[in-house]
Amino acid sequence: MAVVLRARKSKQTMTISAVILAAGYGKRMKSDLPKVMHPILGRPLIDWAVRAVEPLVDQPPVVVVGHGKEQVQAYLNGRVRFVDQRELLGTGHAVQQTEALLRGQSDTVLVTYGDTPLLRSETLQGLVALFEEQRGSGDLAIAMLTVTREDPQGFGRIIRDAGGAIQCIVEEADCTPEQARIRELNPAIYCFDAQWLWATLPNLAASAKGEFYLTDLVGIAVTQGRRVLATTAPVEEVNGINTRAHLAHATGILRQRILERHMLAGVTIVDPANTMIEDAVEIGMDTTVMPGCLVQGTSVIGQRCLIGPHSVIRDSEIADECRIFYSVVEGARMDRDAEIGPFGHLRKGAHLGEHVHMGNFGEVKDSYLGPGTKMGHFSYIGNAQIDANVNIGAGTITCNYDGRKKYKTVIGKGVFIGSDTLLVAPVTIGDGARTGAGAVVTHDVADGALVVGVPARVVVRQPESD
Ligand code: UD1
Ligand code: CA
Repeated sequence: MAVVLRARKSKQTMTISAVILAAGYGKRMKSDLPKVMHPILGRPLIDWAVRAVEPLVDQPPVVVVGHGKEQVQAYLNGRVRFVDQRELLGTGHAVQQTEALLRGQSDTVLVTYGDTPLLRSETLQGLVALFEEQRGSGDLAIAMLTVTREDPQGFGRIIRDAGGAIQCIVEEADCTPEQARIRELNPAIYCFDAQWLWATLPNLAASAKGEFYLTDLVGIAVTQGRRVLATTAPVEEVNGINTRAHLAHATGILRQRILERHMLAGVTIVDPANTMIEDAVEIGMDTTVMPGCLVQGTSVIGQRCLIGPHSVIRDSEIADECRIFYSVVEGARMDRDAEIGPFGHLRKGAHLGEHVHMGNFGEVKDSYLGPGTKMGHFSYIGNAQIDANVNIGAGTITCNYDGRKKYKTVIGKGVFIGSDTLLVAPVTIGDGARTGAGAVVTHDVADGALVVGVPARVVVRQPESD
């Protein structure tokens, strides 16, 4: 009975704060961009780290910022709480800066580093569950993850005694040759008893480099006779990003995870090794993605589409049954059964209505092409509003810019624009009108009229109707 009561009580009162360290220089990246702002598949490293801890906490995570903080703060604004580490004196010093904000706010403090984008929420949940389950006895100070792998480079080594109990963590730079050979490593993911953490952080001593290492807390806990628990982390989740080579390696793993998610949801990815889909992208069932495609940003693709080969889609909305063939689609929208390519380019504000066909070498910007409109061959359409079932002849150009301002072209229903027509905006072409091949249209054209020549003149007016 007593056990049940205690379990329930600990469930009710257990609160967790999360701290993510992201203040470091990241010198080894050799970059002007702060390390944690380097993107992987559409999200900066820090975004991946924040997403991993978000499901575990009621209060927004605390991100320790320093080097490049303006960029990190601008990106995460509103999602997390920030603590400024004014002097970058190491990971222990970084956590110490959060004391004023977090002391007395939670029973447990979870600490992760902002440069570990492969870490999954589930893994953190497992660590927290272990900590909560074991803390009943009162002497548990730390639960942490460790990992064993052949390449130990860049990691602190886990030192155990003859009985297998953890003694301390030794940073790579401080290892004896014997310690350097240890293959059990510190991925730097820890759960601390909050009271113990705040009481003990001031005891950290400066390293030879003058830094206060968070990792030294393990040795201190052991010396005090407090318990330190360790459990294994999946090896592919713990790669910290220190160099561009690490960045590429992590990108490969996350890319595969994202592709698998889509494949399990019913998307055919013909050649996963040559397909890059960023994390926020959504794709409907029975869509096929051919080799060489890059799908980025907030793109949403519907069902039964055929994407690629060799196409780029960024921040675009693609409805069901669309086809995109060797083309670039950016900030655009395609309605159901629209198609583009080969070698088409939709730019910002382009919108193809249902069943629109856009063939070779077309470019559309800030324009709407109504349902059933066809634009088969090398045309430029900008700042245009085009109604349904218009035929845009080969080589048609909207001359929308006079060197100072942009002007609009309006084309009515069922219009036939002859090959090589130049539409000098502002200009309106009425419903059912036609232009002859090579026409340069400088004045509005009435419904049903035919205009030809340079500049275009009316040769046929619309028959009088009753
Ligand atoms: C750290 C660990 C090491 C572990 C490895 C795993 C320490 C002392 N060492 O080493 O045991 O195996 O991660 O990847 O913790 N940061 C700050 N403020 C600072 C210094 C660092 O916020 O003053 C942040 C960085 O932005 C970074 C994280 O802490 O996100 C880790 O710093 P980093 O220099 O990459 O530590 P490692 O040398 O990788
Ligand atoms: Ca690191």
